[in-house]
Amino acid sequence: SVTPAVVTVTGGAGQIGYALAFRIASGQLLGPDRPVRLRLLEIPAAVPAAAGVAMEIDDCAFPLLDGVDVTSDATAAFDGVDVALLVGARPRTKGMERGDLLSANGGIFGPQGAAINAGASSDVRVLVVGNPANTNAYIAAAHAPDVPKDRFTAMTRLDHNRAVAQLRQRTGAAVDDIARLAIWGNHSATQYPDLTHATIGGRPALDVVDDEAWVRGTFIPTVAKRGAAIIEARGASSAASAANAAIDHVRTWVDGTPAGDWTSAAVVSDGSYGVPEGLVSSFPVTASGGAYTIVPGLELDAFSRERVDASVAELVEEREAVRALGLVGS
Ligand code: NAI
Repeated sequence: SVTPAVVTVTGGAGQIGYALAFRIASGQLLGPDRPVRLRLLEIPAAVPAAAGVAMEIDDCAFPLLDGVDVTSDATAAFDGVDVALLVGARPRTKGMERGDLLSANGGIFGPQGAAINAGASSDVRVLVVGNPANTNAYIAAAHAPDVPKDRFTAMTRLDHNRAVAQLRQRTGAAVDDIARLAIWGNHSATQYPDLTHATIGGRPALDVVDDEAWVRGTFIPTVAKRGAAIIEARGASSAASAANAAIDHVRTWVDGTPAGDWTSAAVVSDGSYGVPEGLVSSFPVTASGGAYTIVPGLELDAFSRERVDASVAELVEEREAVRALGLVGS
């Protein structure tokens, strides 16, 4: 029998946790051949709610599920973890300054990074979803010196999928015919959804669309501000689509990208494209052999360069702020 993979979800009682846990337990994260041990990490006040989620998961009688554990102890949650989905975070509340937000999240992602460093399995893969996702991943990685840096990622797959959806709606193309879209930079409104290398059925997407005003005035802001539009419409932030993107991110990481295509993920920069080394920034990435690799050698036109630089500048500011707050070494 195959050893179950240990999958830990933080914020297991939250909106995204609720949408994610059942899909993981049913085998959609790691495929039908890999039994799963699911762990839900919550703050003490939400442990009873997470235990209720665990009861519902039990009631699905998923054949692949080895069991569900609920805990508020990060050390226990990450002991032997293979896939860590860091979803729980401190949201920005009214009147909260950025420094307060970064401090509160540093207090979560620093200790979680340390617990991963102490107890994770040697093949651990970490996806940070909780915002500010890129900088939370940066903090977690900084507290896990023994874990290879390429195991820490943050989620821009939802932005990527949103961009595919907008392009499909505009052109009527099939999703599988859309390739080489890219999200660059921070998972925030400064992100750059890039169509300049994208193709539709092998043709340049920009030729198919043939409308620069739409690309710059509608496509880019619609993708970048989609999160706010969902909150406006639903009265709550994206949850099922975020969970779906988290599943996609891990599946692609493990299974690889199709030949000739790539996806988007925030990974630790190696200095590519002028993004300072060590920053967790979104890039076009391929996956193979269980590793994400930044797509090398793309030409950035002047507009793209400006947009990438602006989003990366925001990441640099966030890094400087967490250093100044003493949340990571400098
Ligand atoms: P939510 O508020 O419904 O749930 C968050 C859960 O995390 C709560 O149950 C809370 O108790 C828990 N939590 C807080 N601190 C924790 C800690 N130290 N350890 C364990 N659990 C903890 O929020 P929701 O809607 O599930 O969103 C979660 C995060 O994901 C938010 O930060 C949100 O901004 C972010 N997000 C990121 C997206 C992306 O594309 N990267 C997309 C959508 C949301």
